[in-house]
Amino acid sequence: MPTTKKSRAKRTSKKSATARKTTTSRSAASRNMNVVTFLKKEHDTVERLMARFEKTTAPRQQEQLSQRICTELLVHAEMEEKSFYPEMERVPEVADLVKEGYEEHHKVESIIHQVQPMEQSAPRFMALMQELEKNVKHHVEEEEQEMFPKVQKACEHDYLMELTKILKKTKTAVKREMKATEMPGERRVREDVAAGELAKR
Ligand SMILES: [Fe+2]
Ligand SMILES: [Fe+2]
Repeated sequence: MPTTKKSRAKRTSKKSATARKTTTSRSAASRNMNVVTFLKKEHDTVERLMARFEKTTAPRQQEQLSQRICTELLVHAEMEEKSFYPEMERVPEVADLVKEGYEEHHKVESIIHQVQPMEQSAPRFMALMQELEKNVKHHVEEEEQEMFPKVQKACEHDYLMELTKILKKTKTAVKREMKATEMPGERRVREDVAAGELAKR
């Protein structure tokens, strides 16, 4: 059950001293990130990759970046759907935005499933990558501008810190699972990157 400020206020009305004590763990916890900061960092990573994709004109690099962007997005969306959205669905202030979030993930994933198996030379490759970028930017904006401020306002600090740990574990599990079922195209691109890196040494 999410620890919202409202739910805790009810539970701890007679325990203000105890509630104050929980803040002592804050200095230790602040070395980590709360879940909103963690998710924003993830968004920044994808945005940087998309900016690199826009700048490059080399077909091979475009294809590699496209694969990397698709993988990052699939892992991020699945991590949110497994461990973040189900929690936030139970926070009344955020529940409607979570529904929208699922729909937007669905749209992004359907574009990814079209573009991921494509070679860079395919006629629709660039158009799909542009559509992907447009949809991702819109979704990130909604999460960061609308959902996250409400999450920060409604949920307890310690709970948000705890969620980061959970999401990080989920991310590791999702990546492991994805690696086990990865598409041949992804493996080929990764082998090319590794070979390129070896050649540079
Ligand atoms: Fe996100
Ligand atoms: Fe999302």
